Order: sequence, then C-alpha cells, then structure tokens
Amino acid sequence: KQSTDKARPYLHFAPKKNWMNDPNGMVYFNGEYHLFFQHNPYDSVWGPMHWGHAVSKDMINWEELDIALSPDDLGMIFSGSAVVDWKNTTGFFPEEPGLVAIFTHHSDRKEGAPAVQSQSLAYSHDNGRTWVKYEHNPVLIHNTKADFRDPKVFWHGELNNWIMVLAAGQAIMIYSSPNLKDWQLESEFGEGIGNHDAVWECPDLFPLPVENSTEKKWVFIVSIGDNPSLPMGSRTQYFVGDFNGKEFIAEHKDVRWLDYGMDNYAGVSFSDIPEEDGRRIYLGWMSNWRYANQVPTTGWRSQMTLPRELSLTTKNGDYLVKQRPVMELNQYFIKNKNTKPIHLNREEISYFINEPYVNATFRITNKDAAEYGLKIHYGERKEAVVFIQPPGKKAILDRSQSGITDFSETFSTKQTVQLEQAEDISMQIIIDASSIELFLNDGEYALTSLVFPNEICERISLFAKDGAMDVVENCISVPSTDF
Ligand code: FRU
Repeated sequence: KQSTDKARPYLHFAPKKNWMNDPNGMVYFNGEYHLFFQHNPYDSVWGPMHWGHAVSKDMINWEELDIALSPDDLGMIFSGSAVVDWKNTTGFFPEEPGLVAIFTHHSDRKEGAPAVQSQSLAYSHDNGRTWVKYEHNPVLIHNTKADFRDPKVFWHGELNNWIMVLAAGQAIMIYSSPNLKDWQLESEFGEGIGNHDAVWECPDLFPLPVENSTEKKWVFIVSIGDNPSLPMGSRTQYFVGDFNGKEFIAEHKDVRWLDYGMDNYAGVSFSDIPEEDGRRIYLGWMSNWRYANQVPTTGWRSQMTLPRELSLTTKNGDYLVKQRPVMELNQYFIKNKNTKPIHLNREEISYFINEPYVNATFRITNKDAAEYGLKIHYGERKEAVVFIQPPGKKAILDRSQSGITDFSETFSTKQTVQLEQAEDISMQIIIDASSIELFLNDGEYALTSLVFPNEICERISLFAKDGAMDVVENCISVPSTDF
C-alpha cells in the first residue's frame, strides 16, 4: 500500500525534486490557489533561491508548474508575497487585473560587508505562468540593516493603500504605498515584546473577527529563526492587537506560540480569498532549520503543512488563535469506523488502519488515569506516542521511537503543550506518510511534527495507564481512494 518513496506525502505539498523551504506568494486568483515556494532547483539542500510554483483548486491536490522567479543581477529570490492588483495601482495592468509578486532580492557581499537585501516586484498577465520583473527594481532598500526581508503585502480597503510588513533583524517594519513602488515607513514593531531568541522572519498581519462577538482584532504572525541554544529550533509566535493603519498595538507582551510542534515554520496566509468565502487560510513549511537540510528523504526535501483555517476566540479573558485543517480535506476521506464509547481501565485497544494516511478524532474524559493517550504504530515495532498527563496538564508527542531519527539529536526532543486541564480533551490527528498534525480542543492547540518511519501506519491504539478513562467519541476516517 505504499509508494516506493516512503516519506513522500499524499496530502501535503512537496516538490517533485530538490529543495524547498518557505511558502511564498500564496494568493487566490481566477479559481486557482497559487503556492510559490523557496526552491533550489539544483540540489536537495538550501542553495540559490528561486520561487517554485504550484497551483491547486482545493489546496490539497497541487500541480507543480515551472519555476516562477530565478536569481538575477540583484541576487537570489528570497521570501515574499503576491497580491492581485484589482485597481491597477501599479500601472502594470491596463487591460485586466493580474498578479504582482513582492519579494526580497538577496545578494551576498564581499568579505566583511553585510549581505544586501532589498524588495522588488514582478508581475504576471497569465495567471502566474510567466513573470516580468519590474524594470526599476529594487523598490525598497535599507542602508544599514543586513536583515531586511520577507515582505508580506495586503490592500487596506479603508485607507485605500497597500501595507507591507517586513522583517528587519528582530523587529518588523510597517510601510505603506499607493502603488507598490513607492513605500513610506509608518512604524516599527517588536521592541520589548514577544520572543527575541533569534532573527525575526516571515511576518504576516491580518484582521480576524472574534468568535461570538462583533469585535475584530488584528493578528501578527512572526517566525523566529534558529540558534543552537534553542531547544525547539526555529518556531513561530503570534501577537493579537489593533492596527490603526500605521501602527500595530499588541494586547500583550508575553510569547504565544502558533504551534507546539517543531515542524511548522515561516507560515503566512493566502491573499485575495474572495469576500464571500471570508476565510483566513494559513500554511507553513513543515520543517525546522535545525535539521531541514538533513532529513532522510531522497531527491527532494521538505513539505508544507496542511492548509489551515485560522479563527480567533477568547479564553479566560485572553485572545487565542485557533487553527483547523480546511474543510476541503474532508473529501479525501471516508468515515469507516464510528464506534461506540469505550471505557478503558489500565488497558489498550487498537484500531487497525494499514493505510498511507488517516484522519482520526477522539474525545476522552479522564476518570483517574495518571496518563492516557494514543499510539501511532508504524509496522509492528515503531511508534509515535501522544501522552496526556492530567497531573501536569500536559500533552506530549514523543517521536523518538517512530523510525529514522539519528540525523539530528534535536529530532527526538519531546514536543509539549501546556494545557489548562487534561481531564477532558478532544483531538484530531492527521497522519500522512511522514507527518503527524495534532489539533487539540477544536484547534486551540496545534502540534505539527515530522516522522520518518519505514512502514505505514498499521494501527492506532488508545491507552489508559494506572487508572481509567472514557473515550466518549471516536471516529476514524480512511482514504477515499484505493491504494
Ligand atoms: C525563512 C527564511 C527567510 C528567507 C528565506 C531564504 O525560513 O530564512 O527569512 O527569505 O528563508 O530562503
């Protein structure tokens, strides 16, 4: 039931060949979702960055197209965004609206001098199939900052202009522009707030309605690079606050993680999702700078997370960003087992799967078990385990026995979510060839994690240790296609 390439995902985008990192330029236009990505077309490790390109009708089944943007005299093509210029603010589209990519040009400098990063434009008249670089690139430079990259641009309807958020060292700079070409600095965000363990990268800023209210808040996503002292490698944090068109004012100073797993980085949201749809859809790079160049895949490297719908809720008087896989995923599954509630007392039960991917949901209430959880068995001997620990209120994913792990010491580190309570937990778990995405309590917590087993998921088991627990709901969905 498995392809010869054991790690190649079924539900997640991965390049046919060679290296990939950040998602770039995600935009919806003329019935297609576009995913561009950081890509080295010559090797399966990071190198001269291009923008690879894929399109999809449902964000799950992707068709990889030709490379969209290649390095030039101004340097490599680093991360950035894409928008539809509906009003022809750029003058690139006298006939009909089209796509504009806003990206970082990165050029290495001679010894001693810093690298140079500047922002540039390219535009397309044929739904992103071919691109023209703007003749007056770059459109935004900085004379002193070596790290000055990853522009994410959106149209601000009330102000009638474009807003760009850009990572600059350990701050985010916010710019505005009438035409994507002339940019004015509005403010800087980040000092004394959030996590500053490493360089800030790949920002995104967008509004979200607050569930069950008429309120709207702005969410600021910021990825934080790796440095050897960090136990989890590269990670992504978010802030909730207000944006007045010039400045972002956060509601809090503390660190909030978007994901509790190690493999969700540099994620941002799609641009130009139609208003009648109204979703804010996010996806990230499903890897970690700590070991991304070493993961045991052959001929290709890295995959994206599933696309996720973001929402904003309040919990204990605080804002919380929730995420759930997009509903388009459902058509890839059929529910085959929807079993009755089960009581487990110091025992383990198994659901046989033997499929290359699976989607399972459980709701468990604890009686008096000191620890309970779920095991994903790969073949007979390997497993990844989700432990829920009521005393410490923790959920932990242990992938140390899941298959190939020896390419990085960090890979076996336990991934932990600190919960408010662990007596009543709902979970959705999506298992693909080489990944596990765990969503707890209807998306309040996400934990995204790679695994490199040699065999497919043979079964899932639930266990209760030193006591009893109830599985009040359980549903296992298997692929809707035959393998
Ligand atoms: C984030 C990042 C970006 C940069 C790109 C280079 O993973 O470091 O800041 O634009 O990757 O590939």
